[in-house]
Amino acid sequence: MKTPSRRNVLAAGGALGAAGALGIATPAQARPVWTWSPEGSVLGTGTGADPRGVWDEEADQLVADIIQRGDVQKVNKELRKWLKNGQPLPSGLPKDLKDFIEKAKQLPPWADKNKLATAFHFNEKRGLYLGVTYGFVSGMMSTVIPREARAVYYSWGGANLRDRITKTAKLGYDIGTANAYEPDGELIVTCIKTRLAHAGVRHLLPKSPYWNKVAEEEIPISQADMMVTWHSLPTSVMRQLKTWKVPIPDNEAEAFLHSWQLCAYMLGIKEEYIPNSWDQAESQARQVLDPILGPTPEGIKLADMLLNIGTLVPGGPLKYVTRPILGSLTRYTLGDQIADWLKIRRDPFWDNVFNTLWEPFIAVREGLLSLEKAPGALSKFYWTFDEILRLGVLTVLSGAQFPISIEIPYSNNPN
Ligand code: HEM
Repeated sequence: MKTPSRRNVLAAGGALGAAGALGIATPAQARPVWTWSPEGSVLGTGTGADPRGVWDEEADQLVADIIQRGDVQKVNKELRKWLKNGQPLPSGLPKDLKDFIEKAKQLPPWADKNKLATAFHFNEKRGLYLGVTYGFVSGMMSTVIPREARAVYYSWGGANLRDRITKTAKLGYDIGTANAYEPDGELIVTCIKTRLAHAGVRHLLPKSPYWNKVAEEEIPISQADMMVTWHSLPTSVMRQLKTWKVPIPDNEAEAFLHSWQLCAYMLGIKEEYIPNSWDQAESQARQVLDPILGPTPEGIKLADMLLNIGTLVPGGPLKYVTRPILGSLTRYTLGDQIADWLKIRRDPFWDNVFNTLWEPFIAVREGLLSLEKAPGALSKFYWTFDEILRLGVLTVLSGAQFPISIEIPYSNNPN
């Protein structure tokens, strides 16, 4: 009999018990049962198929073919010329890929231009907070999403975090632009290239001996995994802004959600899994995101690298926003449990500064509190807090600074 691999044992059920017996940290294995109904989706209906067993069959097959016939480099070279949503596709792209992209770039019938205009207004108004929440809340959270942390670590990009940050920031930047989904915008291109990159990862990662040793799943980046990561973005950002008591009118919250629903669609997430409202998003996140967070050796290493973001992002205000400050910001935003998982040291001074002064800082910025009435110490830290916001913005902006092209990988992380 074949020695049972960790993946087989887990798949055979009794996952928690088995994980315990193998001495593995448990939260990562506690995959909750999928009961979220497609009635709450943008489509209002669906097969109800468990998304843990659904990937992106069309893109996956196509990219597997491209990799197998040795065309990746040629295709990537052509894709570098495709920058704007409405631009004709480069003539050198193979026909099967062209046909796929032509179809994939069409907006669904539920796309709403008015909501997108409101979303832009919201992005403009709240850009400072969005930068810091995308950068530190979503970014750090991704390191405690076990499947994502392992996939990122053992795929090609895991070897080059600076490159990965700027590429990922491109999506965060593009989604905030006025013309994100318009012919002269770039978000649709970014999403489709990402969709192709993910399909490449699904083909390549199962061949990585390192990933295979630790992964629970046979094929990475299922539709369920996509939704988990999606929630680490807009849902977590919205939760954070609410915690900070940032005033957000309902129509702006709805519009922000809409821009992310469309982004999910463009990334190849099936409509039956995309929540149709914030209530539905919350209920899905409580089921799929919150219970699966957990530490992994890979996530701890990625988080450690991310705490150096001040040195990774070009033009980052390195001098003032130091590693201990970012560690305390992580502890403040994501809580003690996650910070402890990530082995972020407690820093009594900065932990206390965030706990006592960040909310008043936001209130002062929002004109809800005067600086005179805020805790006296705030004036001493106001500038540091402003610098943190600036670093968040620079992180997102780094996605716009270079001629960035998200590419189909042709190899895994060699280490
Ligand atoms: C690549 C965004 C879900 C794993 C990328 C890239 C972007 C992106 C923008 C291109 C950057 C790069 O090539 O380094 C997103 C978004 C997601 C999502 C917005 C969900 C809404 C996931 C999930 C996983 C994952 C669920 C794994 C479980 C990866 C990996 C790559 C990648 C491994 C790198 C490919 C390479 O090595 O070149 N993603 N992602 N992503 N993503 Fe995702």
